[in-house]
Order: sequence, then structure tokens, then C-alpha cells
Amino acid sequence: MTRPSLRIAPSILSADFARLAEEVTRVESAGADLLHIDVMDGHFVPNLTVGPPIVEALRKVTRLPLDVHLMMTNPDAFIPEFADAGADYLTVHVEASPHLHRTVQAIKERGVKAGVTLNPATSLTTVEEIITDADLLLVMSVNPGFGGQHFIASVLSKIAQARQLIDRSGSRAALEVDGGVKVDNAARIIQAGADILVSGSAIFSSPDYGRTIKALREAGQATSKPTPNLRAGQARRR
Ligand code: DX5
Ligand code: ZN
Repeated sequence: MTRPSLRIAPSILSADFARLAEEVTRVESAGADLLHIDVMDGHFVPNLTVGPPIVEALRKVTRLPLDVHLMMTNPDAFIPEFADAGADYLTVHVEASPHLHRTVQAIKERGVKAGVTLNPATSLTTVEEIITDADLLLVMSVNPGFGGQHFIASVLSKIAQARQLIDRSGSRAALEVDGGVKVDNAARIIQAGADILVSGSAIFSSPDYGRTIKALREAGQATSKPTPNLRAGQARRR
């Protein structure tokens, strides 16, 4: 399936933090659509990264929408700070948000797009009641906390189910996938229904960011034609 609306979101977690502005400029010039910023608190995930001051600093050096992924307990306490810092999307984990409806409304009231996300072992049913309020559904394809992990293949079926949930509910949420996304598995992820691919190590460890972003974007096109002698209906029954 080709998704003309497919967007690529480089995750700065794998960028050179000593040259962050330069790295962001490079991915922007290379055709990135969003900038994915991973916020980790050392509690919800076993790692520490950045907070609102870095979001604010990045807001000044790029025109890319800032896609802020909050891997933290009690995200509600920081929504105003991240909104004021210039986040375009704020995405919270369902595992860390007992009052998810309130949290999503609080994000939207700040004029920020609200995302909800779930860990690989968390059921999609946890977002069924919020999907029509959400602007983004992020399906984690690694256990959050670190860049450079392997894509968990069993998540592919959850991505496909998430696509169905969004489409049948009439939700306008974009479907984003994060973790272990590479050029060689992007086609399957796009085919399963992703609208946004987050990719950290695949982009920032490559010598040519533009080439990698283009390859990720075009990966879905290779799967756009049905296999010869096998119509879609037949394929579905297999
Ligand atoms: C993982 C983060 C991801 C990470 C992706 O906890 O949420 O955004 O940076 O990195 P790669 O693409 O290297 O798996
Ligand atoms: Zn992330």
C-alpha cells in the first residue's frame, strides 16, 4: 500500500547531542516531516533524556513540528511547560495516565495535538474509548527507554488492528510507529497501516540522512501492487 500522507519523524535520541541544532538542520534539509523528541524520566523508563528547555531551544532552530513523546510518570504535571516550550504534539503513555481523558483534554486545551501511546505488551483496548479524541495513536514497537533496539515483529498485527480501530471509529488520529523502524522493515509497517514512522538509529547512524529518509518514505511503494496471480481477496484468506 502506498500512503501519500506518510510522514517520517527522525528521533533525536540517536543524534549527536553535542551538535543538536546542526543535526536537526540536517534532518530538516533531508526531508523530515516531524522531529521526534523522546522525554524520559528515569522512573517510567530506565533512562533519562531531555525536558522542556531542550524543546524550547529546538523550537528556535527548526520549523519542523515537534513531536514530543513523554515517557514519564505523571505527565499531567508537565503539560503546561511542554506546551509553552513549543511542542506541536504531546504524546502520553496509557500505562502512566490513569485519567487519560482528562490528560488528553488538558493537552488539547493548550492548543497542542494530543497523542496516546501504548507499550508492546499493552492491549489496544486501552485506547478504544479515547481514540476519537486523540490526534495521534503511537504504537510502540520496542519497550521504551533506548534507541537502537530490535523491532518486535508481533506488534505488526497490533498496528493493523490500530489502523482498523482508527478507520472504523471515524477517528482522525494519525497512526505512528516507534522503535526499531529500519529501511528493511518499513514496507511491512506501512502496509500494516502506519501514517508516521519514527526512526532514530536508522537515520542518524546512516551516512546520508536524505537517502535514508527517502528510502523509508518509498518503502511502501514496493508493496503497492498485488502479487501477480494472487488477488487481494485470495491473499486475505491465507
Ligand atoms: C524508544 C524511543 C524511540 C527511539 C527510537 O524508547 O521512544 O523514539 O528513539 O529509536 P530507534 O529508531 O533507534 O529504535
Ligand atoms: Zn519515541
